[in-house]
Amino acid sequence: MSESIFMSPHLSKEEKYIELLPQLKALVESETDVVANLANTSAVLKEVFGWWWVGFYLVKGEELVLAPFQGTIACTRIKFGKGVCGTAWENRQSILVPDVEKFTGHIACSSATKSEIVVPVFNSQKEIIGVLDVDSEHFDILDATDVKYLEVAAAIVGGTL
Ligand code: SME
Repeated sequence: MSESIFMSPHLSKEEKYIELLPQLKALVESETDVVANLANTSAVLKEVFGWWWVGFYLVKGEELVLAPFQGTIACTRIKFGKGVCGTAWENRQSILVPDVEKFTGHIACSSATKSEIVVPVFNSQKEIIGVLDVDSEHFDILDATDVKYLEVAAAIVGGTL
């Protein structure tokens, strides 16, 4: 297993994902421990894209509970159907929020967050086990390209669990 990520210089966002995703697969595919794989996935996404916050919440009963992440201190528990994370869990679908002030019920763990994406994570049995949350300190910086490739990243890591 490689312990560093290779990234060519001067790549577009899409090219970065295309170069990163096979490396993420190599990083997590031989490991089945949930903390190890969610921690390394958070780390590589933060390293490559430099977002304000990137990490996971895991389903525990009727709540999502904070799991491995990179960034500032965050809310620890989110109820089913609440906020962007709880809504993505309820709908079992990704949510792109270009401006958090326009998402009714957004949970502001950090006042710095201006836009975010939440992607559901399914395990190898196709059960929803949590969500991947990416937060940016800029409006409109996250888009459909991020949704598309973050869903691939979530499928890669979820498939190991
Ligand atoms: N903003 C999220 C809460 C999680 S933090 O941003 C890390 C939400 O509304 O669900």
